[in-house]
Parts: sequence; structure tokens; C-alpha cells
Amino acid sequence: MTLPDRSALSRRDYLRALVAVGGATALSACTSESDEVEVPTGTDDPESLPERQHAWNEALSRDDDGNVSPPEHHVLVALSLASEPTDEVRERVEDALQTLERAYEWSTEGLLFTLGYTPAYFDRFDGELPESVDLPEPTAIVGEVDEFDEFDALLHLASDHSQVVLEAEEGLFGEHDELNGLAVETDLTGVFERVDERRRTGFVGEGLPAEHAALGGVPDSVPDDAPFFMGFRSGFDESQATEDRVTIDDGPFVDGTTEHVSSMRIQLSQWFDQESHEMRVAKTFSPEHADDELVGEVGEKLSTSTALTTERIEATEDDARSGVVGHAQKAARAREDGEPLLLRRDFNTVDGDEPGLHFLSLQAEIDAFVRVRETMEGDDLGLPSLNNGITGYIFPDRRGNFLVPPRSLRALPPPDPG
Ligand code: HEM
Repeated sequence: MTLPDRSALSRRDYLRALVAVGGATALSACTSESDEVEVPTGTDDPESLPERQHAWNEALSRDDDGNVSPPEHHVLVALSLASEPTDEVRERVEDALQTLERAYEWSTEGLLFTLGYTPAYFDRFDGELPESVDLPEPTAIVGEVDEFDEFDALLHLASDHSQVVLEAEEGLFGEHDELNGLAVETDLTGVFERVDERRRTGFVGEGLPAEHAALGGVPDSVPDDAPFFMGFRSGFDESQATEDRVTIDDGPFVDGTTEHVSSMRIQLSQWFDQESHEMRVAKTFSPEHADDELVGEVGEKLSTSTALTTERIEATEDDARSGVVGHAQKAARAREDGEPLLLRRDFNTVDGDEPGLHFLSLQAEIDAFVRVRETMEGDDLGLPSLNNGITGYIFPDRRGNFLVPPRSLRALPPPDPG
């Protein structure tokens, strides 16, 4: 495994690159870079943490406008079950996860995580998932996606500190014996195996796209303070579903949620070098956002909403007749009772050495994701893809569906818990 060249990168970029590489050597390089960082320790009573594994918003920091800010570093660890899911093994998984909660505060300064399970995981049992859980096998939905997550489980680790996500991952798999000073007594070795080729990583943060300008596919023209690769802020509170809205509200998996993860490449050169700022605003938000200059350079004029009034959302078909529609206005047509259905926790990536996005979305049922994604595709609008929001610039190549059970059922749940 080759470590990134320290002398060629800023400290921030170096840490991000180490997360992408992963493993014990990257962890040790990361720890020596981050010696002075104090990570808050976790709770003595993990049972006191929220029953919803996805209850992150209370623990996340907020930006100056009051929007939830996602953690900076993310790792998606793909897992394959290596053992029978007996009660003894379940106890072991629970103990290992509680070790993380004892070691790190449940916060962005510490560690946030979820553990979700694929339809393939549940297939090994005789029983069926209850009707209150909608967890179909992943399908292409739109376009020609033909790679699907068919391993068993996905662990999403997130923290503002790169060494925390690396250390947690290594500690869970027997490669590191202390987590934030706490001895690891139980880990997941022998229960799960990591599916290395499906490990994914990424980051969110102001200035990030510009820092990656040395990389193939990331043009110099990316604005210096843009927080996401395509140049604009994202995740305004009023465009996000609430945690309540995405929570399963009935049956044995009450307080769980479903997770969809799609991975895509982004065609950034064309986006930045062949489009004006005005056209990028029109295609990301709406043509009216561009005409009325509502957005600013990177979205700084917006506060907790995208300024998507009902009229702007309903104008999508008219805008299509005039030649261009915005991604956000188009996707917002899928709102129900005026509310977004998806809680997006996506992050950018340079996995595979090219700019991309791991789009991680929580919703009460996978079908809600499918409906929103089809609405976002906008086939009904009859536009060429380059004028149809951002659809002509993103190329999804993988999809996976997961059930993120409530905390009390997160350790190898059967499909039909009593
Ligand atoms: C590189 C890819 C993408 C970029 C740069 C992007 C960017 C954005 C931006 C800037 C907004 C408005 C601001 C906000 O987030 O609050 C937005 C909204 C949204 N996006 Fe995306 N997005 C991307 C991919 C996707 C994908 C794959 C989906 C899948 C369905 C999606 C669904 C949505 C939804 C549902 C909204 C909120 C609409 C509402 O207000 O109801 N986006 N996106």
C-alpha cells in the first residue's frame, strides 16, 4: 500500500488522502500528523444513546446560518458475514460497537456511525422482513447502473478527525488495540470480513474542491471556497427531510430507517470550463435563481432554504419549454405535503483518483428514494441531458440499499424479531 507524498500536499489534503488509503500504516501516519488533537471520550453508558442510529443532527455542529454541518471525514466499510448469526455472535457485535461508543463522544469531534444491512444479508434467514420495512434489491432506477452492493452490511464511520475514522475501523478489525486510549476487548474479527474493493471514502468541507485541483478531472477554475465539487453549498435545512420523516414508524424495526448509497463520477471539466457561473446556477437551482442572482458565488446568499417557492418548483415544466431546468427545483417536485422526503448525507470523493460523489440518503422507505430519483431524472421534461439540471454531468455506477435498524437491533438482526 503506497502512502501519499506528504511534501506534495497541504496537511488537510494529506489527512484526506490517508483516509482514502486506509489500513494500519495510514493510521500511524495520520496519528503522527494529529498528535496534538484531543478527541473527546465517549459515554460510560452506551444504552443512553438515542435508539435511532441515524439520530445525528443533535450531535452535529451547525453553520453560521443554522444548517446542520456534516462531519468532514467519511468511510463506508463494506462487510461480509463470516459467521452464523447466533445470539453469542450478536452479543459480540454489540460489545464491539459499544467499545466505539465508550471510546469516542457521539459527536463530530468524536465519532458518529451507523450499521446497515442489505437485502442479501436477510436472504439467509427463513423469515421475511415485516411489511413495515421496504427494502428491495437495488436496481438501476435510471440509466445503466449495473453494479450493486451485494455484500451483507455497511458501516458508515464519520468524524471531523481523520485519525478517528481510521482508528475505529482498524480497532474493529484487530489491527489496533486501543481506541482513543481505551483497550479494545472485543472486535469484529471472525464475525465480519471487510470487502476491501468495496471500501469507499470521502469528505465535505469548505475549500476542498480547489485543494484537489492537482488531481485529474478537477479543473483549476473550481472556486477557492466552494464546499462541494460542483461549486455550491448544499444541505440547506429546508431542503432536507427531518429525522422524524425518514424514520420507520411501525413494526419491529420502529426507529430504524432505510439507506440508499449510490456512487457516481462527476464530469467537472465540462461543468467549470464550458459553463458560465450563471448557467451553473440555473442548472443547479433554477433559471430564476440565475436571473435574480439569488445564490452568490458559492451559495452564500442563501441561508436555511434554497429559496424554492412553490411557484419556482411548479415552473419546472415551463422552464423546460424555455430550454433549461435546475436540479433542485426539479427534484423538489417530489416533495410531499411541501416536505422533502430524503435526508441527504452525501459526501465527495476522489476514490479511484477521480472526482465523484457517494450519495448517501436516508428515507422511511427505499421507494421514496426511487420516486425522488426518477423525478430528478426528469425524463418527462423532454430536455437534452446537458440542459436537464445536473443529470448530464453525473455518472452513477453503483447502488446499494440497506436497512439501518434501531440501535437495540443493530447487531445481526433477524428479519422477524419478536
Ligand atoms: C454531484 C451530484 C449532486 C449535486 C452537486 C447536488 C447538489 C444539490 C444542491 C446544491 C441542492 C440544493 C441545496 C440543498 O442541498 O439544500 C440539491 C438539492 C437536492 N438534491 Fe441534489 N445534488 C447532487 C445529486 C443528487 C442526487 C443523486 C439526488 C438523488 C435523488 C439528489 C437529490 C436532491 C434532492 C431531493 C434535493 C432537495 C430538493 C428539495 O428541496 O426538495 N441530488 N442538490
